[in-house]
Amino acid sequence: MDETDLLEAAHRQLQANRQSGVSPWNGQPYSFVCPSVKTYPFQWFWDSCFHAVVWSHLDPAQAREELRTLLRAQRADGFIPHRIAWQGRIAFPYRFYLHSNSPLRPWRSELIQPAVLAIALEAVHARSGDAAFLTEVLPGVERYYRWLAENRDPDGDNLISIIHPYESGLDHKPAYDVLFRPLSQAGPPGVRMALRGIDVVNRMCRYNLRLIFNLDRFNVEDVLVNCVYAQGLASLSRLLRQQGDDAKAESYARWAERVEQAILTKCREPDGLFYDLYSRRERKAKTKTVTCLFPLILDSIDRQTAERLVKEHLLNEAEFWLPYPLPTVSRDEPAFNPSFRSPAQSGLWRGPTWVCINWFLVRGLRKHGFEDVATHIVAKTKELVLQHGFREFYNPLTGEPHGAEGFAWSTLVVDMLV
Ligand code: GLC
Repeated sequence: MDETDLLEAAHRQLQANRQSGVSPWNGQPYSFVCPSVKTYPFQWFWDSCFHAVVWSHLDPAQAREELRTLLRAQRADGFIPHRIAWQGRIAFPYRFYLHSNSPLRPWRSELIQPAVLAIALEAVHARSGDAAFLTEVLPGVERYYRWLAENRDPDGDNLISIIHPYESGLDHKPAYDVLFRPLSQAGPPGVRMALRGIDVVNRMCRYNLRLIFNLDRFNVEDVLVNCVYAQGLASLSRLLRQQGDDAKAESYARWAERVEQAILTKCREPDGLFYDLYSRRERKAKTKTVTCLFPLILDSIDRQTAERLVKEHLLNEAEFWLPYPLPTVSRDEPAFNPSFRSPAQSGLWRGPTWVCINWFLVRGLRKHGFEDVATHIVAKTKELVLQHGFREFYNPLTGEPHGAEGFAWSTLVVDMLV
């Protein structure tokens, strides 16, 4: 398969996963790509943003539809759910009930996912240049970021908090294990049990964020979540400038800088890595995962800090520089598990390589002049996809494919090749 074939294969995959119709819940039309027809048949927030980026190369009208559908699930206050079951049939009802406030119509969750929305919109706009679409969707996108600032920053330090591991997109990331002791000492089965406990508490609080933050059970200022939030605000600022709204563009640029500064000052440790902060006391969750490298995607990281991340950690064979980079967890962490049996036995995001993580970090590496490192990661990602197809994740030591088949965001490799 050469690159043109890859583009065609990506197109076929997105088409195969496309869901469209009119929702029985609210009579609204929908058209989006589900992550995997068998495993994940609904719309997921950050997946859809990634799908829109890939669509922008293949079919800009469909890219716009993907984002429009996401925005149709937006509440009046600005919140957008992390998962939307537009089609009306719900495969795992108990989770939908736990993640929703509505026992009878649990089609929209009360959780968030990393705020990739404005980043995706910027990519779509760059390729289609459709000013009318921008005018149509920007108010909703702005409202979303404002909702995050107003509702998810209880201590007012410019970093937003997540209330459940699923909100980070990295469901069982071992950095959260410290919050789940002693259950997490039993490994992934214990972690999954602890997650259900958080679900029950959040549901009992009726997803009232004031109550949830008062309980302080799972309150994490996650590095990936906040780096993506900062980059989303920077995208929003550039989009507003293109629309001629310089004053607003300026205020979003300042806001993005404040978030970046908070990450760079509060999450850094002497080893040069950046760790998630948990609980009101902002303790560091000191497990080396790939999200410790995420400040590489920021605009304002200085040269020395970026070089330490790349040279001491990303390119370190004892940590992240494995045959098929980048593993979710550093190889020298006790929790590192490169392979996979099932979500229950191995958990997710506890070692394997995922395409969306490489997509973000390749953008960061290119932005800060680490072109050779980026080129290598792109080549290895392409090799994984060419050999094994679009799978959910891959073994970073052997390249063996794991998880869902026909997994749509792995088509991001086509964007990385451009
Ligand atoms: C898994 C992933 C999450 C993703 C979802 C749908 O739960 O951890 O990040 O959004 O699947 O692909």
